[in-house]
Amino acid sequence: MKRKPMMAGNWKMNNTISEGVVLAQQICNRFEKDWGEDVDVVLCTPFLDLKPAWTVVDFENLPIYIGAQNCYWEEAGAFTGEISVGMLKEARVTHCIIGHSERRTLFGELNEDVNKKAKALLAQKMTPIICVGESLSVRDEGTHLEYVCAQVKAAFAGIDDIDAKNCVVAYEPIWAIGTGRTATPEQAQEVCAAIRSTLAELYGQEIADGMRVLYGGSMNTGNVEGLLAMEDIDGGLIGGAALKAESFVELIKACL
Ligand code: PGA
Repeated sequence: MKRKPMMAGNWKMNNTISEGVVLAQQICNRFEKDWGEDVDVVLCTPFLDLKPAWTVVDFENLPIYIGAQNCYWEEAGAFTGEISVGMLKEARVTHCIIGHSERRTLFGELNEDVNKKAKALLAQKMTPIICVGESLSVRDEGTHLEYVCAQVKAAFAGIDDIDAKNCVVAYEPIWAIGTGRTATPEQAQEVCAAIRSTLAELYGQEIADGMRVLYGGSMNTGNVEGLLAMEDIDGGLIGGAALKAESFVELIKACL
């Protein structure tokens, strides 16, 4: 089955509101409207940049989605510093990264939290981009496939097949994030194929074949072709290379 690729830019904690507007505008200036038929493009900005970035994209009338990088699963209440899914939805956010390794390692996010966030997003018909990936020590032990597949199972616990179809999984080996050290296409393919097999175990082959599995970790204009040529890699979650319009648009073009 041919899956529609996705290129999601993860801006992380970069770009003030004014800088974010400039970057969104630079991306729009280079973007052709009909690309939206062949690739889903998502800008995952800091919370404050979400609405301004959406305003730019909406003004240009381009098929570019706006995504957040985190959310909280409760609807409202005494949760100082958190942002609910409902708040994101009203800001026209359609996608949300959850379980990024930086959230897991720096902010103590657990598999159970990722699962609750996925369910809260799905309840509002939003697309979770569920990140999984092993550390260098797990890879060196040779248990990376088991480790990543267990993360996938935990993230999808209690999610039915109708909702599962609306999820995207991003494989991001921690040792490749922001390090310039990319997984080889074969290394990335091995894990993305194992993720798809896990999804097939949970939901059946047909649903698993329709779900997108992205690769993330120092994806750039030099390595994108080789990674996208792999059977089970359906796009990218891009950090550093998403902070410049030129490189991000080149990565989008690689999906056309
Ligand atoms: P990177 O980040 O492309 O800078 O390695 C990817 C990510 O963390 O999503």
